[in-house]
Amino acid sequence: MNRILALVASPRRLGNSELMAKEISRNLSQPHRLQLVRLPDMDIRPCRACYTCLYDEHTCSQDDDFSRILEAILKADAFILAAPAYLLAANASLKRFLDRGLSLHHHFRELWGKPAIAVTVAGIPGMEGYTKLCLESAARLMGLELKASEVVYGALPGEVFLDEGNRQVARDLAVALFGPPPPWRSLPWRCPACGGDTFRFLGPDRVRCMTCSSPGRVEVKEGQITFAVEPPEDHFFLTVEGAVRHGEWLRQMKERFQAKKQELKAICLPYLHDGEWLESRGVPGSAQGKAQK
Ligand SMILES: Cc1cc2nc3c(=O)[nH]c(=O)nc-3n(C[C@H](O)[C@H](O)[C@H](O)COP(=O)(O)O)c2cc1C
Repeated sequence: MNRILALVASPRRLGNSELMAKEISRNLSQPHRLQLVRLPDMDIRPCRACYTCLYDEHTCSQDDDFSRILEAILKADAFILAAPAYLLAANASLKRFLDRGLSLHHHFRELWGKPAIAVTVAGIPGMEGYTKLCLESAARLMGLELKASEVVYGALPGEVFLDEGNRQVARDLAVALFGPPPPWRSLPWRCPACGGDTFRFLGPDRVRCMTCSSPGRVEVKEGQITFAVEPPEDHFFLTVEGAVRHGEWLRQMKERFQAKKQELKAICLPYLHDGEWLESRGVPGSAQGKAQK
């Protein structure tokens, strides 16, 4: 039986993100077991940038819920990612989880290509900001194949289903999860490398895809906009080999740091005593705490 893991980035019990995830699960035709993780309820401490997890998958200096979530991720066959828009982006619990994701580098070969769908819930039509992009990046950073991504609107808990159309969105997403690859790459207004639909303009005709980071050019042909994107050959988002190689490159960081340590120290140290930090009430092990000792 397929295991479906829903990562729900809403603190609300029976909120819209949870309802969408459950409605999608109800509409899956395959027999499955639905497991849910409410990210804001989990003890996921901020990444400390120690890079230890790059070298040993079981080593993180923080003893919290991340390893349990990772275990559930590795056991899952398919994923539902659901998050509400908070101040134009996904609820921060999603990012806090993702920031610990360097340890996923040990698992790309297992995770690569597992199907995922994403649901953005926003309270005000048109005000989702970059929440959809946050969810799509999350799927890619986990090595998943994003099959579909939708935005639905509803502010109060349950309001999303006052609009019956959103039940249809859930049905469509359920079909997409185990369906064929999406036709995104052939759509001219999408990134031909990854299917992303969010671009940053680097100049009047230069763009970068904000999902896979490929640079490219905007062209208008016969009145239609197209993105001619040039993905780098060894792109770490686009192939599992690239992702694995990126992990190896990150692991070389230690040697790079050792080689440049004195030079970097000479840059950093003159700034040590500038300004006054607002004191924290005590995040154990925080850089600020250490610097003040
Ligand atoms: C702190 C906060 C910030 C929010 N910011 C936005 C926003 O930027 N855009 C928007 O459309 N809705 C925003 N909302 C509304 C939520 O996205 C909306 O209520 C949604 O239904 C919540 O989903 P949930 O029930 O799954 O938690 C915000 C809600 C909160 C609590």
